[in-house]
Amino acid sequence: MIIVTGASGQLGSAVVDDLLQRLPAEEFGVSVRDPRKLANLEQRGVRVRRGDFAEPGSLQEAFEGASRVLIVSAAATGDAALRLHRNAIDAAVAARVKRIVYTSHMGAGHSSPFAPMPDHAATEDALRAAGTAFTSLRNGFYASTVPRLLQHALHTGELRVPQDGAVAWTAHRDLAEAAARTLVDELFDGPTPPLTGPAAIDMAGVAEIASRVLGREIRHVVISDDDYRDDLLTGGVPAQAADMLVGLFAASRRGDFGPADPALPSLLDRPAITLEEYLRTSLVA
Ligand SMILES: NC(=O)c1ccc[n+]([C@@H]2O[C@H](COP(=O)([O-])OP(=O)(O)OC[C@H]3O[C@@H](n4cnc5c(N)ncnc54)[C@H](OP(=O)(O)O)[C@@H]3O)[C@@H](O)[C@H]2O)c1
Repeated sequence: MIIVTGASGQLGSAVVDDLLQRLPAEEFGVSVRDPRKLANLEQRGVRVRRGDFAEPGSLQEAFEGASRVLIVSAAATGDAALRLHRNAIDAAVAARVKRIVYTSHMGAGHSSPFAPMPDHAATEDALRAAGTAFTSLRNGFYASTVPRLLQHALHTGELRVPQDGAVAWTAHRDLAEAAARTLVDELFDGPTPPLTGPAAIDMAGVAEIASRVLGREIRHVVISDDDYRDDLLTGGVPAQAADMLVGLFAASRRGDFGPADPALPSLLDRPAITLEEYLRTSLVA
């Protein structure tokens, strides 16, 4: 049995949708913090059990009988993230799964200035130490981040951001299909190549694409890291989130989120979704 965690989230739910097309419902199950959110899946014959990475006891039951587990990284950072991921890894090992599949990130690294990246690197270390076969999906940067970065610009017409580097923006849908295929066919061992969208695009390119999609100009303006942080704080973004966003730009300048890699389209056997295609549905839906 395949168990999918994070199944109430954007990525995990798309993995489940994909698995429903590949496997009979009784061949996989989900582990979620609040099973009520997924009552519809239970009605379709999918096993729905409560599993919270913060409560190891709940994971024992949620992972029971699993041969493969998809651990979707939690929305936490630092020690808290590692603790949650370690609990999930330990529970998967205790359940004697044959393979753990983990949603890591392109650019995962201990010295990255973007806060989630050292967490992914530390989780990959924990996976190596666990002694169970694992696949670490080095997912590209979500294209869904771009509308958030554009939020202010949609009102002002100016995308005011720090100097950046090109990012290979990647659609959830493609990453979910890649995860589902990897779970079913055990396609990779260890960290995968970067699973990315078809092109690495910098903020100037993002502004160009957004202008085309919206039919009005979005101007790209480069500002300092400090001014960007100040703008975010003034706009009500909490300090930790503002620091994380500044770190995102610092890591992108190092080239951590590019270039595009052919592994994802090759795995999907079709072209990956472009940023422009993604923005055409998400910005002007
Ligand atoms: N590649 C990228 O660019 C990128 C960008 C942002 C984030 N990420 C990472 O990718 C993950 C999945 O992305 P997403 O878009 O699907 O995020 P999402 O929609 O926020 O979903 C996160 C999922 O994690 C679950 N979760 C959170 N804490 C948990 C815990 N303690 N125990 C068990 N499950 C827990 C949530 O469950 P509930 O419904 O109970 O809250 C939810 O199902 C994120 O959590 C984050 O680590 C990647």
